[in-house]
Amino acid sequence: MAHPVEDGSGAPSFKPLWRLMPYLWPKGRPDLKARVLVSVVFLILATGFTSISPLIYGWTVDQLRPTRANIALGTVMALIAAYMTSRILLQAFAQLRDGIFAKVQYHAMREVAVETFAHVHTLSLRFHLERKTGGLSRVIERGTKGIDTLLSFALFSIFPTLLLMVFYSIILWVELNVWVALSTIVMVIGYTWFTFWITRWRIQFRREMNQSDTDANTKAVDSLLNFETVKYFNNERHETRRFDVSMEKYAGASIQSQVSLSILNTGQATIMALGLGAVMGLTAWGIAHGQFSIGLFVAGNAILIQLYQPLNLLGTVYREITQGLVDMEAMFRLLNQPREVQDKPGAQALKVSGGEIRFENVIFAYDPERTVLKGVSFTVPAGKTVAVVGPSGAGKSTISRILYRFYDIKGGRVTIDGQDIRDVTQESLRSVIGIVPQDTVLFNDTVKYNIAYGRIGANEAEIKDAARLAQIDKFITLLPMGYDSMVGERGLKLSGGEKQRVAIARTILKNPPILLLDEATSALDTGTEREIQSALNEISRNRTSLVIAHRLSTVVDADEILVLDHGEIIERGRHSELLALNGHYASMWNKQREAAAAREKLKEVENDPDVAPGIAKTEPV
Ligand SMILES: Nc1ncnc2c1ncn2[C@@H]1O[C@H](COP(=O)(O)OP(=O)(O)OP(=O)(O)O)[C@@H](O)[C@H]1O
Ligand SMILES: [Mg+2]
Repeated sequence: MAHPVEDGSGAPSFKPLWRLMPYLWPKGRPDLKARVLVSVVFLILATGFTSISPLIYGWTVDQLRPTRANIALGTVMALIAAYMTSRILLQAFAQLRDGIFAKVQYHAMREVAVETFAHVHTLSLRFHLERKTGGLSRVIERGTKGIDTLLSFALFSIFPTLLLMVFYSIILWVELNVWVALSTIVMVIGYTWFTFWITRWRIQFRREMNQSDTDANTKAVDSLLNFETVKYFNNERHETRRFDVSMEKYAGASIQSQVSLSILNTGQATIMALGLGAVMGLTAWGIAHGQFSIGLFVAGNAILIQLYQPLNLLGTVYREITQGLVDMEAMFRLLNQPREVQDKPGAQALKVSGGEIRFENVIFAYDPERTVLKGVSFTVPAGKTVAVVGPSGAGKSTISRILYRFYDIKGGRVTIDGQDIRDVTQESLRSVIGIVPQDTVLFNDTVKYNIAYGRIGANEAEIKDAARLAQIDKFITLLPMGYDSMVGERGLKLSGGEKQRVAIARTILKNPPILLLDEATSALDTGTEREIQSALNEISRNRTSLVIAHRLSTVVDADEILVLDHGEIIERGRHSELLALNGHYASMWNKQREAAAAREKLKEVENDPDVAPGIAKTEPV
């Protein structure tokens, strides 16, 4: 479905141009402002030389009139030299103008792109879950390109052409007569109007092309990211067909775009020829009546041909500019996207003394129709460990997202050391919480990079220390490239257990006072489970920890265990108390014990003593 951020429906608005102005006249950058001014001067000079050169050409022709008995060869040569010089200078100044302005242009592009990128990172999790990443990156990519196009074309094609138009009209008026000047102006206006009119009609095809291009891209990215899943279900053909549907739309829109381009080009050529004919006819009439010289006829012709070049480009320019505007608009709309979770004005940094977490009657819903947490209250005293257990979908991970303030709650309060998390800055809140998420996704980079991500700038020794504490160091040294091994797209070259230990290592490196552990559901083999457990015990020592657990054996030592079901805490207490209660927890415990015993038995049969400790058997993730 079309997303309003992407398509930019309706006529192109020129508002994005105004949004761009501050970037072109940047505050605190006098050097860039100076460049803008200098390039304007060069623009005028280049246009001046462009308009004078056909005139010199005409004068040369007059000197060569065959009726003259003796041609003043010296004058002719001087005129030819002047003509040459003007041709060189018009190019030189145009190039200087572009070169000088380039820095301003790329500065603006960079600023806008970086600002948008940073802004996209501040948008809520909800926004990102609903958005398609492939499409999002295209919006930024196209928006940046749009700025490039707009500046290149608008500043150095439209303005010069307008200026050239003014200069030429004056020349034609002064040298020939007002009718020649007027017919040229009429031709240019007619030409421009026709171009704009047709181009506006054509824009819909471009939009369709863009939309299906974004669609195809999103589908391709999503399908390639899910490469494994596609294989599991033998759905390559289904994926290809989906991709082809978008490509078919793209092809259809492209053809319409091509046909309409032909109409545009033919119309433009006709108007141009009419204008040229009018000027030539008027001048010929003038020569016949002894008003003008032959040289002026030639000069008039040269002027129109010279005007034809930028005008011919005008179609492309208008197309590109409107396209650039549409793309920029989409990008600026992204930049205007309000943040769902915002810092309060004047929010202070969170001050952590012990790191006591308190949930007071927290009510939360992702969508208004379905309440996920229905009044959850608990306290994790400073330095203690509280575990949350319960069936899948109960709302356990939701608790961690709320504590991290990915979403704001509907009712109740969440505090850390007595400060409501809505009253402090998100940055300070997130800096004190370390999270080992349920699904660890890694960057497609080296193991070292992924661990160091916990604290960018950590040195080699600290990284290795963290890896050792997370019990992943032995595994890493077994890798052919050691710490420099690549982990693959989203970390898929590592097993689930290995990935999780990398995540633990980077949280150790972050060294936060509050810890949030969301245990992976994938059944790890007992050896790996024990190792991960001891790694987790290592980091949760002396920290306030909230542990979300599936394997109850990992939380028997917790200071309090909360049993969450359908967004409500139905049982709470220490392990022994809950067992004595003989309720939900006790039955979960017994089930898991039985399953574990059965697993152990199986293990004994197939256990391979040669497997080095610390290497997880690879299991599908
Ligand atoms: N972004 C979201 N938008 C809408 N609903 C969501 C979203 N994320 C989770 N939910 C729903 O909220 C409920 C609780 O999800 P949550 O991830 O907290 O479950 P969980 O207890 O962690 O389960 P598991 O043990 O499987 O990890 C689920 O029913 C889920 O479908
Ligand atoms: Mg979960």
